[in-house]
Amino acid sequence: MILNLSRRNFIAGTAALSAVPAIARATSPTALQPIAQNPLVRQRADAQVFRHDDGYYYLTGSVPEYDRLVLRRSRTLAGLATAEERVLWRHLASGPLSGFIWAPELHLIDGKWVMYFAAGPSGGGEDVFRIRTYAIVCDGADPMTGNWSVLGQFQAPWDSFNLDSTVFEHRGKRYFVWAQREPGIETNSNLYIAPLATPLTLGAKATRLTVPTLDWEIRGFKVAEAPAILARNGRLFMSYSASATDARYCLGMLTADADADIMDAGAWTKSPQPVFTTSEVTKVYGPGHNSFTVDEEGRDILVYHGRDYRAITGDPLFDPNRHTRIQRLYYKADGSPDFGIPVGNGPLPDRFSPAGRRDAYLAHEGTRALVGQGALPSTQFRQMPGRISGSVTLSPVDMPDYCLAVGQDGSVGLEKAETNAGFLRRASFVRRPAPDGAVRFTAAAHPDKALAHRDGALVLGAGNDASTAWLVS
Ligand code: AHR
Repeated sequence: MILNLSRRNFIAGTAALSAVPAIARATSPTALQPIAQNPLVRQRADAQVFRHDDGYYYLTGSVPEYDRLVLRRSRTLAGLATAEERVLWRHLASGPLSGFIWAPELHLIDGKWVMYFAAGPSGGGEDVFRIRTYAIVCDGADPMTGNWSVLGQFQAPWDSFNLDSTVFEHRGKRYFVWAQREPGIETNSNLYIAPLATPLTLGAKATRLTVPTLDWEIRGFKVAEAPAILARNGRLFMSYSASATDARYCLGMLTADADADIMDAGAWTKSPQPVFTTSEVTKVYGPGHNSFTVDEEGRDILVYHGRDYRAITGDPLFDPNRHTRIQRLYYKADGSPDFGIPVGNGPLPDRFSPAGRRDAYLAHEGTRALVGQGALPSTQFRQMPGRISGSVTLSPVDMPDYCLAVGQDGSVGLEKAETNAGFLRRASFVRRPAPDGAVRFTAAAHPDKALAHRDGALVLGAGNDASTAWLVS
């Protein structure tokens, strides 16, 4: 029987055979912050980014060759794009750690830097996807300069396909969450949780948290993998990735009350729909394998990978262009995360609230610009360099071919972007600091006027009128 050695086909096959698995922007009158651009890092899939208490952002992820563990760090999120990357460890010449190296995660455990990853043997054949979880450990306080060596293999409940582990602490206890194929369950992988006794051993019997059964979890292959934990608003939110690693790849989410017994599978509720999926509008395909961090102002950031194209030649697992991407993570009125849509390539967008009204945003309905509520993507505006030096245009991420422009009658709405000087002059605004941390967008076509909010409408107001002050949110 010749198996197409896609990992998923292979697992499905064996399951059938036997049960054997960057524009600097003023963020304050004095601080100029480099603005991160997507993709943040090309060809780094499964990215983990976290901000350590040493003030650095650390990034690791899978490389297209799947042959090594890498780490980079930067004082800013934007700086990760060009930060020096160090190879911490390379797969071995033979044996169970000589093949694919997947989805590393860096954690500081009892003062030691430990990097978890999934690895399999080399040599081709049917065994190449015999993937198990391992860890390397650093002998020093600085993970970028220390020496790394193999700590060992994770002692999983079964000797079967397992990967994508993560570690988190909750109420003073450390937990391990990972993806694994469980003998007797016909899926590629399910999610499990258990207390962590040592870096590679569990302190109690594992709880199975979720099995992929919903239609959006089993497209191409039955997958629940890449768990990531976010503790906010009295709850634990566990995102995970589902389906084949092509454009069908997406994020699901489990939610538990922070006071619940999180070892009880019944404490976790699965979102019935995916929370983050491919966007034809912003041309990001297969968004997934996420992590969470915060930006330089402490605001939540979603980290994930995604391609710029839908059609893939051959096995998606061997297409190298799952790029690391980031975007702001916001919250719904009920306190749960609002993932919105992948915001697409270019500078990260901002949301703008009228100063003093955090419950309303610059938004649009079709080509009508307004100030009010609306789906998250209708309130996220990307600022690109405008025609006038120092000016910007403002485009909603969900209508990227349109931007705000001042009409001949002085009204403001969305118009399809053009390249002629007249349009660009009407669509260029100069962003300037306003009192109390607010910003103001002066119209290039009307230098004495600025974008203003009035009774739910977006208009041009007198340049220094209070209605022209916007808070970035
Ligand atoms: O990128 C390699 C593997 O493919 C990752 O471990 C997994 O999350 C993804 O499906």
